[in-house]
Amino acid sequence: MASNKKLLVLPGDGIGPEVMRQVRRVVDWMDKRRHVSFDLQEGLCGGAAIDAHGTPLTDETMADALQVDAVLFGSVGGPKWDDLPFEQKPERGLLRLRKEMDLFANLRPAMVFPAMADASSLKRELVEGLDIMILRELTGGVYFGEPRGVETLADGTKRAVDTQVYTTPEIERVARVAFELARKRGGKVHSVEKANVMHTGVLWRQTVTKLHEAEGQGIELHHMYADNCAMQLVRYPKQFDVIVTDNLFGDMLSDCAAMLTGSLGMLPSASLGAEDPTTGRRMALYEPVHGSAPDIAGKDIANPLAELLSFAMLLRYSFDMQEDADMVETAITNVLNAGFRTADIYAPGTAKVSTTVMGDTLLREL
Ligand code: NAI
Ligand code: MG
Repeated sequence: MASNKKLLVLPGDGIGPEVMRQVRRVVDWMDKRRHVSFDLQEGLCGGAAIDAHGTPLTDETMADALQVDAVLFGSVGGPKWDDLPFEQKPERGLLRLRKEMDLFANLRPAMVFPAMADASSLKRELVEGLDIMILRELTGGVYFGEPRGVETLADGTKRAVDTQVYTTPEIERVARVAFELARKRGGKVHSVEKANVMHTGVLWRQTVTKLHEAEGQGIELHHMYADNCAMQLVRYPKQFDVIVTDNLFGDMLSDCAAMLTGSLGMLPSASLGAEDPTTGRRMALYEPVHGSAPDIAGKDIANPLAELLSFAMLLRYSFDMQEDADMVETAITNVLNAGFRTADIYAPGTAKVSTTVMGDTLLREL
């Protein structure tokens, strides 16, 4: 049993270790009360690794990340390391993890807790109960396609080029993740591109349709143009369950969906890689959407819920522990319903609590 629960924890910098401490308390609780033990290792990444080893990610930690079942990541970076050359910065540690683990599927849920529906930029009735999953292709598309660059033409004008490229295997593997997700959720997938004006969009639509015929039994598939999707997200977001899209459109649509929920301190994410053909195991890294928040680090005021929700995703998607994931998410819902808020989500009439007290309250609720 323990062999399929190997977990590498990389708290990182700034508020990373502070919010991760609250996750560790939940892990200890699970160990004692739920009799689930994790084979847990903790490592260094980012500025913390630079200070200790002179590099944002050692080869040893990289090797550990490749052999565990899941990585739980905090955040990296901060003013202390801002003057380092680009190649040595804390962020390179995270980029190396993403690259070597080949994390091509980025999951960004947008979930609105009942007690937080008034924090949204939309009216309460439009977002109450909202639970959508944006799945963004993360390693292909226009951010990586060749040719790319800027050239100066003979007449002195400049010309910049970026190239959108997708192959059928790249589209298939992310669409397959979308169908898997939909099966564990509401059973509906919107595949989003611009097949009306882009060749990659046409191939995307054909490939997803074909895969759906072969492997999408029971999944309701819709195709939608990206511009319309942006509009629909703010018009009637509850029509969506899983949205799967390319790197560029996913970058924008996931930020747009995130703001439907109101707060950066509550947004988790997951990045998944290829499935091992023999074990069926997927590389996976879970992290909050927020950064290391140097402006509030060390003050015990950061919101630990994004990291805790990232951990709940880890339980759900890497360890298939649906009941435990539900339990953590329900406890968070109840703590918010009871009026407990860290400073970033404080509203008049609620109780402002520290990072540690938010953790205490959650443990009591569990
Ligand atoms: P940030 O997300 O760290 O902070 C933006 C604002 O949101 C700040 O005012 C911060 O106090 C607040 N905030 C963020 N998380 C919060 C939480 N859990 N609770 C309460 N308030 C929270 O983004 P910023 O300021 O652009 O970057 C700061 C550092 O973090 C930089 O060094 C940046 O490179 C790094 N960063 C790292 C990321 C990662 O490790 N994946 C992602 C984004 C930024
Ligand atoms: Mg972005």
